[in-house]
Amino acid sequence: MTGQRTLEDYLQRYAETGPLALAVAGAIDAVASAAVEIADLTGKGQLAGILGVATGRNSDGDLQRHLDIRADAIIRRCLGRIPIAALASEEAREAEICDPQGRICVAIDPLDGSSNIDINMTVGTIFSILPTPDDLAGCFRQPGTAQVAAGFVTYGPQTSLVLSVGEGVDVFTLDRAAACFRLVRVGLQISTHAEEFAINASNRRHWDAPVRTFVDECLAGVDGPANRDLNMRWIGSLVAETFRILTRGGVFLYPSDARPGYGDGRLRLVYEAHPIGFIIEQAGGLASTGYQRILDLSAQSLHQRVPLMMGASHDVRRIEELHCDPLLIASTTAPLFARRGFFRL
Ligand code: AHG
Ligand code: MN
Ligand code: MN
Repeated sequence: MTGQRTLEDYLQRYAETGPLALAVAGAIDAVASAAVEIADLTGKGQLAGILGVATGRNSDGDLQRHLDIRADAIIRRCLGRIPIAALASEEAREAEICDPQGRICVAIDPLDGSSNIDINMTVGTIFSILPTPDDLAGCFRQPGTAQVAAGFVTYGPQTSLVLSVGEGVDVFTLDRAAACFRLVRVGLQISTHAEEFAINASNRRHWDAPVRTFVDECLAGVDGPANRDLNMRWIGSLVAETFRILTRGGVFLYPSDARPGYGDGRLRLVYEAHPIGFIIEQAGGLASTGYQRILDLSAQSLHQRVPLMMGASHDVRRIEELHCDPLLIASTTAPLFARRGFFRL
């Protein structure tokens, strides 16, 4: 029964399924404890001195904000209480070897969507949990399919924990009075056809033809190949976009583009695309680079970026078709044969 069952009950039952599950449950519990603290800190905003930009930049060159750094420290402290073999974070250049006897490795984006902090919009925490491989040095070079669990927290009107241990996607809401997460949704499924698309449209002039063609098909709505009208959203926070898509469907694109440094897009494979791709696939959606399944990819470097197109299976398949068949681009954008007659009116 939802609403009453706590995350603690849920994890206790899962932990009984074996020693790896026990280790995974410990890591999820630690991230959830950190999330309670981060939710409180995020909610205080300027009163806690967490707005604005800190001094440094992270290893991917992003400006580090105070809350990025504070969230990273809180999660590290909470995970430090359990035996994990290695920890990777967006906010640290290198992965940290912790307890080599640990059964699992954890990758985190401590604060996703941090450019939204100062404007009081939803931000979040993303986590990926992998089994410890024989060669610990390769722990974060495993394919996304190796993940045993993944999830994210949204710090918005509700503080929600979205989780999959490989048996579907479940959602917990923070009961602030009791300081515990309660199960509110089980087995989320994404509808096959999107009614909303999400992309940062300001980059249109930098996109490759397949992405431009797909977005044009969305904009053409019922008058074009999509045969339906679509709405558009862009929040600038991957966790918020993902939560919306899990809740009411949709398709999200952060493609590679022609801007310097965006040849592989903006999102990072290990601690953004892999965990989000795991959740999306567990909910019946797809996650792709346009050419390849995200979960089939293995990182060559810890902070490597990857194009991410994810959500409704029909629409992600259309995006892949457009990437893989250039003739499709020509046929759908031929100016002479515009839909309304021989010549464009
Ligand atoms: P982060 O704050 O962890 O760097 O992630 C921000 C990401 C993602 O959350 C969001 O979808 C995207 O950056 C927004 O990018 P633009 O600002 O280029 O639109
Ligand atoms: Mn992020
Ligand atoms: Mn981040």
